[in-house]
Amino acid sequence: MEVVILPGSRQIGKLAADAIEALLRHKPGAVLGLATGSSPLPVYDELALRHERDGLDFSSAHAFALDEYVGLPPGHPQSYREVITREFTNRVDIRPENVHTPDGSAEDIPAECRAYEERMQAVGGVDLQLLGVGTDGHIGFNEPGSSLASRTRIKTLIEQTRRDNARFFAGLAEVPHHVVTQGLGTILEARHVVLVATGAQKAPAVRNFVEWPVAAVCPASVLQFHPHATILVDEAAASSLKLADFYRHTYEHKPGWQGL
Ligand code: F6R
Repeated sequence: MEVVILPGSRQIGKLAADAIEALLRHKPGAVLGLATGSSPLPVYDELALRHERDGLDFSSAHAFALDEYVGLPPGHPQSYREVITREFTNRVDIRPENVHTPDGSAEDIPAECRAYEERMQAVGGVDLQLLGVGTDGHIGFNEPGSSLASRTRIKTLIEQTRRDNARFFAGLAEVPHHVVTQGLGTILEARHVVLVATGAQKAPAVRNFVEWPVAAVCPASVLQFHPHATILVDEAAASSLKLADFYRHTYEHKPGWQGL
């Protein structure tokens, strides 16, 4: 796990976009794993800018969202299908048929979950998975207690997550209780994971998953098993890390050829 502490979200957006740009230039048909929520927005802004300004090409790329609410009607502005389209995929030249989100309104949810995993496998699996982290340590919507080997499935949101996400809805009562999410085992299969966390409210979760033992009570800690996990944090989110100075030193002295 590599922890990179940066001054703010603009720098985080640029560094994550550098990794995605390098991947696309080397493999134009790369498979991107997309997160929703606030954390990845600076990354999407930077990628949209590079597409517009430098012609960064997404026309052969594929994208898979991490998760989707269950019970929102198709087209609901807060469904993750709509959010990912609005915040990212509509702003670049990725083909709409190459953008996948789990169908949270499917009649047969277990069948949809299996089909989602198969769609990911059919294009070769995820090359780079972008992640945020919840204040309770969730990634995707794998809440505390999730199996570290889990696959795409339905999950119940913990009340803290519903409260955290109420800011996107008219009120708490409108936040669904259920979601479909890639599992922790699914996420671990991505070849590179890049997790973005900003703000003091994320500091305890960042400390727990980076420096505490791997445990289902803090689902993001499973990333300690990942051979290529990059954690991009601002100073506030890094403020509880015991080894912060070591992470800074390591990044400052990193050989240039290593990339992210
Ligand atoms: C969203 C997702 C979640 C969020 C997490 C943090 O697709 O999978 O794990 O990344 O809830 O959300 P923000 O970034 O809004 O703080």
